[in-house]
Amino acid sequence: MTCARCGFANPEGMGFCGECGSALVVHSCPRCGFHSPRDFTFCGKCGIRLEPTRESESGPLPRAYTPRHLAEKVLRLRDALQGERKQVTVLFADVKESLSLAEQIDAETWHQVLDRFFAILAEGVHRFEGTINQYTGDGIMALFGAPIAHEDHAQRACHAAWYLREALRRYADSVRLRGLNFSVRMGLNSGEVVVGKIGDDLRMDYTAQGHTVGLAARMEQIAEAGSVYVTQSTARLVDGFFRLRDLGETRVKGVQDTVRVYELEGVGGHQSRFEVSRARGLSRFVGRGDELSVLDVALHRAGAGDGQVVGIIGEAGMGKSRLCYEFVERCRARGLPVVQAHGVAHGEAVPLTPVSMMLRGFFEIGDSDSEATVRDKVAGRMLRLAPESTEMLPVLYDCLGVPDPDQPAPVIDALTRQHALGRVVMALLQAQARRGLHVLLLEDLHWFDRDSAAVVTACVEAAADSHSLLIVNFRPDHRPEWMTKSYYQQIALRPLSTDAVGELLGDLLGDDPSLAPLEPMIRKRTGGNPFFVEEIVCTLAESGSLGGDPGSYRLLRPVETIAVPATVQATLTARIDRLDESAKAVLHTAAVIGKEFTEALLQRVVESALPDLGTTIEVLMRSEFVSERAGHPQRVYAFKHPLTQEVAYRSQLAERRASTHAAVARALEELHAGRLGEQAAFIAHHWEAANKPYIAARWRRRAALHVTTIQLPRPQRRR
Ligand SMILES: Nc1ncnc2c1ncn2[C@@H]1O[C@H](COP(=O)(O)OP(=O)(O)OP(=O)(O)O)[C@@H](O)[C@H]1O
Ligand SMILES: [Mg+2]
Repeated sequence: MTCARCGFANPEGMGFCGECGSALVVHSCPRCGFHSPRDFTFCGKCGIRLEPTRESESGPLPRAYTPRHLAEKVLRLRDALQGERKQVTVLFADVKESLSLAEQIDAETWHQVLDRFFAILAEGVHRFEGTINQYTGDGIMALFGAPIAHEDHAQRACHAAWYLREALRRYADSVRLRGLNFSVRMGLNSGEVVVGKIGDDLRMDYTAQGHTVGLAARMEQIAEAGSVYVTQSTARLVDGFFRLRDLGETRVKGVQDTVRVYELEGVGGHQSRFEVSRARGLSRFVGRGDELSVLDVALHRAGAGDGQVVGIIGEAGMGKSRLCYEFVERCRARGLPVVQAHGVAHGEAVPLTPVSMMLRGFFEIGDSDSEATVRDKVAGRMLRLAPESTEMLPVLYDCLGVPDPDQPAPVIDALTRQHALGRVVMALLQAQARRGLHVLLLEDLHWFDRDSAAVVTACVEAAADSHSLLIVNFRPDHRPEWMTKSYYQQIALRPLSTDAVGELLGDLLGDDPSLAPLEPMIRKRTGGNPFFVEEIVCTLAESGSLGGDPGSYRLLRPVETIAVPATVQATLTARIDRLDESAKAVLHTAAVIGKEFTEALLQRVVESALPDLGTTIEVLMRSEFVSERAGHPQRVYAFKHPLTQEVAYRSQLAERRASTHAAVARALEELHAGRLGEQAAFIAHHWEAANKPYIAARWRRRAALHVTTIQLPRPQRRR
């Protein structure tokens, strides 16, 4: 009998979990509302027969409450998602002292209260694309980041918790009118889980790694009524995005070390990872001289009335935001007006956020401006810049969240509103450009919701033949339609050069001689991605391998392998999850083969009979996962980034990896039957990883014999 709250496997017949003490409930009694243990046939309080239906065993089926788009995605990718390791944030929410509350009112009313409570919880969790995994009788356990990975799983969980806290506070106020002191507490923790089987009904089994789930449950149990407690692992991921209060070290039952606990105090001042980095202090800007020159030329052309759109495209962490920041700071230093906005990863949950950000920039709205001031600023500026569009004022107020009580926005459908916003933004941009050169920076287009993306199209149109420079950035799998415009050009951000990474590392680590062996390791591992460089240095410092302060570290103990930071792992698994099923399966197989692989070998090993492996490899090349190393005599491909291969490899379960390794070994034996000696060491490696040590040993021996029988060219005699 597995505890729904902490995942502990209790012996059969238990009423309460032996690990966390929560009731192992099956459902509430239909007559008296009493929560009976899972295997009770009769209600423990009033004695009526309980006939548990499937639905009441652990709440409604996920299929019933998971939004359709999410359900379809999970089912489509089901085979690829099962048996994967995922970085997640676990959220527990429950009603404080529910048993005593249930006793205060009649059973039917209590049911109604709980029903509404569960509906609020489900809406909040799904809004941020979490999945409810368990109904615990008087609460839920939800996962963010599984089965589909989200690089910002912790932020989504905190957003959901904060949103729910507000919604549930309002609900508690209404319930209090009925004399019920209803309050909810929540707990969050981040870590790794292994996604198990996913059923047709979307029920997902999972195996928690370490204390991932149990600690989240503990946080909830110790949380004060109405509050959200998070562990340090979650706090580290959301610091800056949310305000947290350090509650200090706490002893937690079942965990040896003390756990640092934080209380979630609200949404913080930063909305993007780059803003958080900036607040912490940026490292020295290195490389990117060529890219800055391209932007300078575009600015010059825009200055001459030849409006330009420049797209900066690159993988997560490659430095898009940093390059844009450095450039727009130069523009600002020259006195040019700059307006900027960016998308957020959970963009669909909060539509039009980027447009609202952009409008705030245009109208120079400050955080402390009252609603009336905001409306005055908007109206004044619209009158000056685009008097012909002032009938759009109510729509603008609405988008900015400051509706005018005397002049409510007309009730219009989403498409009409989208067009209206597009027109007004276009008018504003054109008016701004008539006054002189200006810069608009829109970041992370891949996260823009549909309505915001439509407004971007309007911005692109407005830039033509004007004094506007529109800079946008996005990741490679995003392909907006307007990329074919003649005044659009693209900068593909390459990894930082070896010298630039050296400079960056010098800045982050310092120049203590003990660090010398570390630098080449980090350089190789991060493949020139500055975000990965920073995260690895941070992880090494946190794990105690580095001592001292940022910028002047010492190596305290030798580092043999550098672990993949959780942040990097989450970013890369989310990227892999965006692939379709066959591309993802091929990528996983390729990752088992190694950093380099031939098409012939891959063809023999891929599990599902792929009609056209070539097309799938093209998808992987287009999305910049792999690149072609050689075309003749056989096609050879390589992972573009060493960490992608490692994350694709590590996220698969050991059992699945082992069977693929065995398939690779067999395929190598067949493919190279004529010259097995050359391949013997490689074959041995795959048999070893397939947990077949005896076969591996035979191949090792063969490899050794091959080396000793190779005829080395005789050294030339000196005359
Ligand atoms: N050229 C550079 N010199 C020094 N540091 C850099 C450079 N480029 C990026 N960085 C640092 O690396 C980190 C990641 O960069 P950035 O946020 O710009 O990546 P990004 O491509 O915008 O990623 P995402 O797609 O996640 O938004 C930041 O802390 C940034 O300051
Ligand atoms: Mg960025």
